[in-house]
Amino acid sequence: MLIFTEIKSLQQKIKSLKNGVTIGFVPTMGALHEGHLSLVGKAKKENDIVIVSIFVNPTQFDNADDLTNYPKTIEKDLSLLKSFSCDIVFTPTPEEIYADDIQSQSFDFDGLEFQMEGKFRAGHFNGVGTIVERLFKVVKPHKAYFGEKDFQQIQIIRKMVEKRKLTVQIIACPIHREKDGLAMSSRNMRLTKEQRAAAPFIYETIKKAKIQFGTKNASEVVKWVENEFQNHPILRLEYVEIADEDTLLPVETKNPTKKYRAFIAVFAGNVRLIDNISL
Ligand code: PAF
Repeated sequence: MLIFTEIKSLQQKIKSLKNGVTIGFVPTMGALHEGHLSLVGKAKKENDIVIVSIFVNPTQFDNADDLTNYPKTIEKDLSLLKSFSCDIVFTPTPEEIYADDIQSQSFDFDGLEFQMEGKFRAGHFNGVGTIVERLFKVVKPHKAYFGEKDFQQIQIIRKMVEKRKLTVQIIACPIHREKDGLAMSSRNMRLTKEQRAAAPFIYETIKKAKIQFGTKNASEVVKWVENEFQNHPILRLEYVEIADEDTLLPVETKNPTKKYRAFIAVFAGNVRLIDNISL
């Protein structure tokens, strides 16, 4: 497994690959878990070589403490990737990516950026767009793999690819869950024992919401979820929304030809957890 920290040397390596070699790319912020590794596994099956980036992107954090506390486990990440036969890892510094101007570009994602996460994390999607476009331009992958836990992020990246006429194909992969249903996330390792024990309630609740959506309208289901969290001793609901998968707009009247998802964000102490379920 080759490890590059500089764009120039990574690009030299990519240029040296034989014509026709396909590149699968898995962008990450490290603190890897089975969810990430499943993306690497899929990329391996579908491409000749796999490149994984590990970069905690400062411009997508709306909260300085969240950036400082974001878990960093680089040695463990590298050994996991090696054991998964990853071909190349790219671990740049912020200076390598941004030079001396650590700032986001401003994107127009046709309104997708103003829904859900966008209402609570100012500037987050401009930061994601900036880094993902930069990485796509450096790596020039044929396919790039993202987990559906960040479903809104995937829709935003698809929009960016379409608007900026990038040639990469975006592959969405199902959410990986712990045995008790908690969606895998790098942030889970920051939960206390008590918070970790409480966290499966998030998925349990959206699973019940899915059943209710069969007979009730979206606003009734949203109210029911809000009520479930009302007096929870450990978890604090930030939002729950039932939205159209394509537009991410909240559902008013159900249309049988459309696909919907329930999206949720919850705090356990200062750890923010998100999840979603197809309805
Ligand atoms: O989903 C993530 O881990 C990040 O948002 C990404 C796509 C690696 C960009 O920093």
